[in-house]
Amino acid sequence: MPTVLITGCSSGFGLETARHFLERDWNVVATMRTPRADLLPDSPRLRIVPLDVADPDSIRGAVDLAGPVDVLVNNAGIGLLGVFETTPLAALRALFDTNTLGPMAMVQALLPQLRERGAGVIVNVSSSTTLLPLPLLAAYTASKAAMNAWTESLALELQPIGVRTHLVLPGRSPETPFSRNAQPRMQAGVPQAYAGFVEGVFAARGGDGPVTHAADVAQAVWRAATDPSAPLRLAAGADAAALMPAV
Ligand SMILES: NC(=O)c1ccc[n+]([C@@H]2O[C@H](COP(=O)([O-])OP(=O)(O)OC[C@H]3O[C@@H](n4cnc5c(N)ncnc54)[C@H](OP(=O)(O)O)[C@@H]3O)[C@@H](O)[C@H]2O)c1
Repeated sequence: MPTVLITGCSSGFGLETARHFLERDWNVVATMRTPRADLLPDSPRLRIVPLDVADPDSIRGAVDLAGPVDVLVNNAGIGLLGVFETTPLAALRALFDTNTLGPMAMVQALLPQLRERGAGVIVNVSSSTTLLPLPLLAAYTASKAAMNAWTESLALELQPIGVRTHLVLPGRSPETPFSRNAQPRMQAGVPQAYAGFVEGVFAARGGDGPVTHAADVAQAVWRAATDPSAPLRLAAGADAAALMPAV
């Protein structure tokens, strides 16, 4: 059975995607910043490996431990919601280190083995915010839009060596702890000049419209991994699907 390595498996989409592949008899390398053995079912096909995608030493260690990998899923990511003017540069750097440079470093670390085998799949988990700009998400959207542009160019470069490259674009998913996990990065406060605007944005958020479930993301990643005819961009979730341009 092939092996998938998934980043950010401690919760949300990554955890559900690891479950999805395990249930379908794949070998799963579920990576987590803080490894926990109790999140996924016991299985001889499961390995939990420590990995912080923003730390090059950690990447080297995880790739050594993982051994041969057929599919890389760059799922780990962090959110940041707030007024751009007062977002600390350190927060912007952390965002790009995790959401953009981390996946790039993972690809560089695994490409030599994929290239040698002349086969493999890279799946990058982006966001539907890159399809419909939303206020207070400028920095986050930029980190994912950079991922999109990088992935689309990389796909052309890797296709001749037999490696497929895909983007999965999930919509808004209130069922994962993504927003809660972003809270510690959002302590900058709202400048007075933006207060009314920000209030309006929060008042208009949410609602009863369609959302994305973790299972939608797992399904889209599965399709990217297993269906050679899958398109480069796959929407995950009804809200994201509604935003995908018709091609
Ligand atoms: N939820 C949404 O509405 C939504 C919508 C569109 C796209 N996305 C994207 O989907 C992906 C998964 O999000 P989610 O909703 O499942 O959120 P989540 O539950 O917060 O999961 C994010 C995962 O990334 C991990 N992570 C964060 N920084 C990391 C680092 N430096 N190295 C390794 N792992 C790290 C987290 O691990 P720790 O437990 O160690 O923090 C966690 O396992 C993200 O890329 C996110 O941008 C989410």
